[in-house]
Amino acid sequence: MLNFREIAESVLKKPGVFLDETRLYPEYVPDVLPHREEQFKQLTKLFKHVVVMPGSSSARVILYGPLGTGKTATAMSFGRVIARLAAERGVKLRYVHVNCAGAKSALSVLREIKNQLGLSVPDRGLSFSEFAQALLKEMDSEDLYAIATLDEFDSVLYSFRKEERYSLIRFYDIFHAEKLRLNFIYVSRMRPSEVIRTLDEVSEGYMMRNTIVFSPYKSGELYDILRYRAEGAFYPGVVGDDVFGYIANLVGYDTGGDGSARKALAILYAAGKLAEREIEEGRASRVLVEHVRAVSASEDMSLVHVLDSLNYLGLHHLLLLKAVALGLRETGGDYVNIGYVEEIYRRLCRGMGLEPRRHTQVYYYVTELASRGIVMTRKSMKGRRGRSSYVSFGAAPLDSLLSALERAIAVRREVGE
Ligand SMILES: Nc1ncnc2c1ncn2[C@@H]1O[C@H](COP(=O)(O)OP(=O)(O)OP(=O)(O)O)[C@@H](O)[C@H]1O
Ligand SMILES: [Mg+2]
Repeated sequence: MLNFREIAESVLKKPGVFLDETRLYPEYVPDVLPHREEQFKQLTKLFKHVVVMPGSSSARVILYGPLGTGKTATAMSFGRVIARLAAERGVKLRYVHVNCAGAKSALSVLREIKNQLGLSVPDRGLSFSEFAQALLKEMDSEDLYAIATLDEFDSVLYSFRKEERYSLIRFYDIFHAEKLRLNFIYVSRMRPSEVIRTLDEVSEGYMMRNTIVFSPYKSGELYDILRYRAEGAFYPGVVGDDVFGYIANLVGYDTGGDGSARKALAILYAAGKLAEREIEEGRASRVLVEHVRAVSASEDMSLVHVLDSLNYLGLHHLLLLKAVALGLRETGGDYVNIGYVEEIYRRLCRGMGLEPRRHTQVYYYVTELASRGIVMTRKSMKGRRGRSSYVSFGAAPLDSLLSALERAIAVRREVGE
């Protein structure tokens, strides 16, 4: 029999796959973003004044591009760098990042900006305009500047009333100030021409000139990105170049894929997880193209797709997805009864002090999630009712899914409720 020391040693000696798998998590922001140097440079140019002549103007910039093209990551890493550069020059500049998906109002967005800036502005009972004035005053008294990224801004463009939209887009047309301390980055997947249509004539030309485009990644670009991101995430030598190449071709825009780095990274991660299991069972010794093939075959309905959706789903959709995941885990089946999912959903809502949505609304959410391909539904075999009665996620690994959902729910709670 092995003693504990020997067991520990055998585990430590075993060649692992992941050195630090958190580095492949979707929200991990790497220090460098290969092939986004140009966008980074454009951002710096447009926000140069904040460091060189703070307060002289307020920039508003749109980052536009499809899923997984590095908009969020670029904005965040830009924020990190520019705040540091400003500090070195004695300018108090903070970067804040607000996910607007599911945001209720312009006021809730501004409130979140305030929270992240760590300012003490009382926000009970104030209107948007009163709150904005109080916020600006507080920034004045602290001599503070800020760049605020409003991520998932499409949600605002689609669902806010015109005045609410304008108040976030034409902030300084409404609130005059001597020093313009607040700057904005709006992140959108809508074509610039579509975004413009939701704006007014005054903002149109300005916004057109201040749009930075993020094109879907080409296969060669994804190859570099994967190689770079694998460093530090995997043990050296565990993933071969052929694996990077294979995934890059699968996802590359020029090779028929959608050019999403998120998808490429999720496939790499899933292949790594599969290889890890096989290595433990002694059936493999490193991550192979074979593993990529296996996970990408089931990829359509799985984790990658769900992860892509998490950014733009509202809080109750997310809670419902969590209920599906918990229900599947609890019952251990492929599908779980919707009635049971609803029960879990209600429990989750109560646990968070939220009013659950009504029964009919919950059914509507399920149909909606199904039509977006995020869940699968199946009609009851023996039931008399015609509506879908069972729901599933496809091949997604439940644990990764649940932790991703937890993170999304935490983020959404801050802005939404
Ligand atoms: N150039 C890059 N180098 C390294 N990693 C990248 C690069 N571009 C994107 N990524 C990674 O890919 C994932 C998706 O990127 P990101 O979240 O920034 O995309 P996005 O454009 O905001 O997509 P969405 O519109 O779906 O929100 C993130 O994990 C990010 O760190
Ligand atoms: Mg994003």
